[in-house]
Amino acid sequence: METSFQKCSALLRHLRLSDAHDIYKNVKDKEVSKWTATIPYPYPKDGAVKFIRHAQYHADKDKDLILGIEYDGSIIGVISLMHINKTHKRAELGYWLGKKFWGKGIMTKSVRQILEMAFQKKKLHRIYAKVFQENLQSQKVLERCGFKLEGVHKDSVFKHGKWRDIMTYAKINHY
Ligand SMILES: CC(C)(COP(=O)(O)OP(=O)(O)OC[C@H]1O[C@@H](n2cnc3c(N)ncnc32)[C@H](O)[C@@H]1OP(=O)(O)O)[C@@H](O)C(=O)NCCC(=O)NCCS
Repeated sequence: METSFQKCSALLRHLRLSDAHDIYKNVKDKEVSKWTATIPYPYPKDGAVKFIRHAQYHADKDKDLILGIEYDGSIIGVISLMHINKTHKRAELGYWLGKKFWGKGIMTKSVRQILEMAFQKKKLHRIYAKVFQENLQSQKVLERCGFKLEGVHKDSVFKHGKWRDIMTYAKINHY
């Protein structure tokens, strides 16, 4: 499955084991880990291969949707719909991008694409995302894509020696 953007040459596609090096190169940056609850730092050498196997398992079982963001022929980030709940038609959105690709509008476009898949193809009703309070870039992406702030969870994550407040955003499909 592939879906491409009009203005930049990025596309969303399923991951292959041959993407492991590109993922490792981009995700091992402390600046990427710093803003996420789940990406460890230092990132383990075999972490990308394990992650791709995990993504492929979920794709085969039609569970979480985990897609690579391809730009100029290599994978520069990942975007996913996790904890897909078919009864309540909801899922959690997560994403990251290699630091040198920040600020080009790539994630805003990627979020719009995966929302289309979530609402049109998967017929989900509610997509939510959890963001560190200091992560203004990510909040801007979500707000630009129509997400609304729902609340703040104080000291919800302990990361890099500090308690972090988490803001929950959601977008509801009203159709
Ligand atoms: C968050 C992240 C995915 C954003 O991706 P991106 O492709 O750079 O996002 P976009 O370019 O589409 O939009 C970013 C916006 O934030 C703005 N921005 C950047 N730094 C900012 C800052 N310190 N304060 C406020 N806004 C900022 C950018 O200017 C841009 O807005 P603009 O287009 O109006 O100028 C990327 O920074 C990233 O991977 N961060 C590390 C991992 C992460 O935070 N994941 C999300 C966890 S919830």
